[in-house]
Amino acid sequence: MADQVRKLAAQYFQLVDPAQLDLPPGNVLVRSAVQDALYERMFDESLAPLPPAAYRTRVLKLVTARIEESIVDPDQDELSDNLMNSLGTLVAQPKPSALEQVQQLSHVKYTAPLPSPLTGDREVTTIESRGLLLSGRTTGNRTWEAALHLGSFLCSPAGEALVRGKRVIELGAGTGFLSLLCARHLGARGVVASDREPVLIENMRECVRFNHDGEKPFPFHPAAWDWGTPLEKTGDLEEFVEGGGIETYDADIIPPLLSTVRDLFENYYLEEFIISVTLRNERTFQTFWDGCEQNAFKVETLPYESTPSESQSGFFHSTDIPIRTYRISKAL
Ligand SMILES: C[S@@+](CC[C@H](N)C(=O)[O-])C[C@H]1O[C@@H](n2cnc3c(N)ncnc32)[C@H](O)[C@@H]1O
Repeated sequence: MADQVRKLAAQYFQLVDPAQLDLPPGNVLVRSAVQDALYERMFDESLAPLPPAAYRTRVLKLVTARIEESIVDPDQDELSDNLMNSLGTLVAQPKPSALEQVQQLSHVKYTAPLPSPLTGDREVTTIESRGLLLSGRTTGNRTWEAALHLGSFLCSPAGEALVRGKRVIELGAGTGFLSLLCARHLGARGVVASDREPVLIENMRECVRFNHDGEKPFPFHPAAWDWGTPLEKTGDLEEFVEGGGIETYDADIIPPLLSTVRDLFENYYLEEFIISVTLRNERTFQTFWDGCEQNAFKVETLPYESTPSESQSGFFHSTDIPIRTYRISKAL
């Protein structure tokens, strides 16, 4: 029961589409202990930041409908007062327009698939506006599948070994998901989360208070950097990790990305560069491959596969399109 509630709560805070949520079966949901756990982990207002009200309402309607249809003996089973009151409060709230909902900034909390033996669940909170994706000039307002895939790998022992104790820079960090993960949970010595879009850098700065418990200094430094312009921080960046996202329909992003990687190898002591690529499109992938060859990079495919979507326990993402992870280094 605890695993089912944990998984549902993790999907909910990641704003997984309600149709894809893994709801526990009705005979489990009717139990009052389960309903109490759902309220305490998902709907209690003191858990703020919570998902947007419209999303919460949709999920709570699904949960309560399943509970109601599973009640066999009304004297024994019932919908808990807490869940019923939460639903009442949510449906009474004025609804934002469809446009307002699309533009809204939301806190999205991602839970790692593998809990740490020392600290339990590892969580990362970003600020995202998934609906703004198509209207702005950036694709960085949401966290992409390839970043979630790479994050899952980095949480494994082999992945964590690439980050622990290292200085890391992320190129095109978008929401900053991977950088926050490296800084908060994977023991990176320092993380520069770079992107060219100032608004994304602002959002990343705003995220710090949701990811930092305030005890130790938080080694996370969002910085605006447009590839091709001089990198001001010189000499002190030893290792770099790039997160996800050259998967877009836009092959144009790849040549400047790879020439930036070469610049980092040649001038800034970069040792290796890790990238996850969604093999969505033959042309994009070929451009990536040709670019590595032209830059004389050594490319190694890391043997990591995402767990199929239905069996994932965190960093939920689709596995319909294959994603591969590469380690790139300078050929000797
Ligand atoms: C597809 S998004 C991926 C974001 C993130 N890596 C992820 O996977 O979730 C690509 C990101 O690269 C950034 N970007 C594109 N061209 C760039 C450039 N020339 N310099 C710096 N960042 C760039 C965009 O602003 C965007 O945030």
